[in-house]
Amino acid sequence: MLWYNGLMRLDKLLGQAGFGSRGQVKKLIRRLQVRVDGDLVRDDSLNVDPNLQTVTVSGQRLSYSPDVYYILNKPSGVVSAVSDVEHQTVIDLIDPKDRREGLYPVGRLDRDTEGLVLITNNGPLGYRLLHPKHHVDKTYYVEVNDELGDDAPFFFENGIAFLDGTVCKPAKLDIVSSSSEKSCAYITISEGKFHQVKKMFLAYGVKVTYLERVRFGPFSLGDLALGTYRSLTEEEQKNYCLIFETNVEYLDEG
Ligand code: URA
Repeated sequence: MLWYNGLMRLDKLLGQAGFGSRGQVKKLIRRLQVRVDGDLVRDDSLNVDPNLQTVTVSGQRLSYSPDVYYILNKPSGVVSAVSDVEHQTVIDLIDPKDRREGLYPVGRLDRDTEGLVLITNNGPLGYRLLHPKHHVDKTYYVEVNDELGDDAPFFFENGIAFLDGTVCKPAKLDIVSSSSEKSCAYITISEGKFHQVKKMFLAYGVKVTYLERVRFGPFSLGDLALGTYRSLTEEEQKNYCLIFETNVEYLDEG
């Protein structure tokens, strides 16, 4: 399951809750072991909402914990990791009541970078989101220590090459303001190379003094306060689903 949204087929739900293959689940239903809100179930294609209905198998109540998706505004100093001996992690910022087994940040921001980190316990999703084939766009607000000239958008669009020979995919640069002391811009990239944004600006000849991720695929930071988080809205979960369901076959080919 890529995301959870209300109704789902009973056989799928039981499969995900660990009751075996579709065939094994069918057998359980045929043997009249499954009840929904107390009523015996004979139809494995029945749609149920595990948040609103009580499902029992052989008298045992099904405990089903849907995947969670949070957007966190990471402050500088916090690391994008599950645990760290030295620094506070993004998971430390999640209230214990909202924590789930397997919660992890999808991708990494540098310790001094602020902004949007997606946190979930949906394991395969992170792999899909970060897979280069999906080209998930990320937008950063950047401040640098020098001028960004009229040539800069073209420079970034042209595919910057690092000294080690790595060539970046074209990036979109929107300059907000420029002066010899401080310039501000938004940059959108579709990859996630190590220190990519900082290295791209270095290749242009300026140093990043502040970096904040404001967008990750269809998700925006909005006015989420630094150090706080929220669950994805249903609308965002739908966007999520569209992106990944339409790309899964493509991904599996490669
Ligand atoms: N690029 C960087 O250089 N750092 C980040 O944290 C993210 C993108």
